[in-house]
Amino acid sequence: MKYQLQVVLLISSIGICLSCSSQQRATAVKDLNSTIDKNFKDADTQYKLMMQVLPAGQFPKTFERDTLRTSGPGWWCSGFYPGSLLYICEQTKDTVLYNEAKRTLRLLAKEQFNTTTHDLGFMMYCSFGNALRLDSDEAYKQILINSARSLATRFNPTVGCIRSWDSKPSDFLVIIDNMMNLELLFWATKATGDSSFYKIAVTHANTTMKNHFRPDYSSYHVLNYDPATGAVQQKRTAQGAADSSAWARGQSWGLYGYTVMYRETHDKKYLDQANHIAHFILNNHHLPADKIPYWDYDVPGIPDALRDASAAAIMASAFIELSGYANAKSAKEYMAAATTILQTLSGESYKAVTGTNGGFILQHSVGNMPQHSEVDVPLTYADYYFLEAMKRYKEATKK
Ligand code: GLY
Repeated sequence: MKYQLQVVLLISSIGICLSCSSQQRATAVKDLNSTIDKNFKDADTQYKLMMQVLPAGQFPKTFERDTLRTSGPGWWCSGFYPGSLLYICEQTKDTVLYNEAKRTLRLLAKEQFNTTTHDLGFMMYCSFGNALRLDSDEAYKQILINSARSLATRFNPTVGCIRSWDSKPSDFLVIIDNMMNLELLFWATKATGDSSFYKIAVTHANTTMKNHFRPDYSSYHVLNYDPATGAVQQKRTAQGAADSSAWARGQSWGLYGYTVMYRETHDKKYLDQANHIAHFILNNHHLPADKIPYWDYDVPGIPDALRDASAAAIMASAFIELSGYANAKSAKEYMAAATTILQTLSGESYKAVTGTNGGFILQHSVGNMPQHSEVDVPLTYADYYFLEAMKRYKEATKK
């Protein structure tokens, strides 16, 4: 009898404990969702500020020394501005931002025929892909199909990859970032029924999986293939601290890219790859407790090195999606990491005070440290993936 009473007491105290922690979890989720709603409202104010100072025909890049730096539509980041506007107005229903997105889409449209860059996924899918998702306009569809065709011209079947950067004819340069451009190709196969886009994406991902990763699942930034034989000629960096280091944004691009690969193919080897990359990141002893990585996981000078908010935002978005495919233990770990990132980026260290920062939402990203370019500044893609991660968090946690 006494034993039974003890068991009953034990079970009910476990019950209270469990319900207490699930209640605490529910409160934490509710709090972060409220923060996110406020972040979208602040983002709306910020982007209205930015649109007022944006010169005609230009796209924002960053804000440095009190000046908005911009580019034409051919720069790899041009799609993030309309994409961010669309993510914001989807939440705030602000037609001013929606019209601004449509204005800049018209400027960007001609890039559908640009065959000089591999960045068409970033430029066209982050922009027109979101526009099509919100408004099923046939014109957007045709632009995306043409963009996929332009991207596919850069595929070399001997190498098994899409060429990233143009260079001398004996080089064939592929960067890990290129994994992000494959989503456009998967979309194109679904839209047209032409499986060649799908096959190019899968071949590129397989070649990259074979050659770009180290035994610990960190990745090199740049591989140089022999275009005539497909042999690897060089494994090096461009934006990282060293050829052998783990450039932070590159690890985030890989994580995001293989998560998309699993979503689009349901092939478990891509899920395994995404999980391996996730574990490299989360178990890295240089990843700070707030989960905003230094700009390179191996940069000398940690803990005094600069952080990269863009790498954090990209990985938060990827972790939320990957948590939907992973086993329960990993899913919990990924959502916890994404939650920490979103909380940190929403805090005063990273989120700019409304009315400052040239209208960008986040501060403290690193574009290209070796070139001393865009160092410790706001960046369009940090904002874009932060907005996407917040949207994904809202959707993943809604009842
Ligand atoms: N794709 C260029 C970058 O991540 O900086």
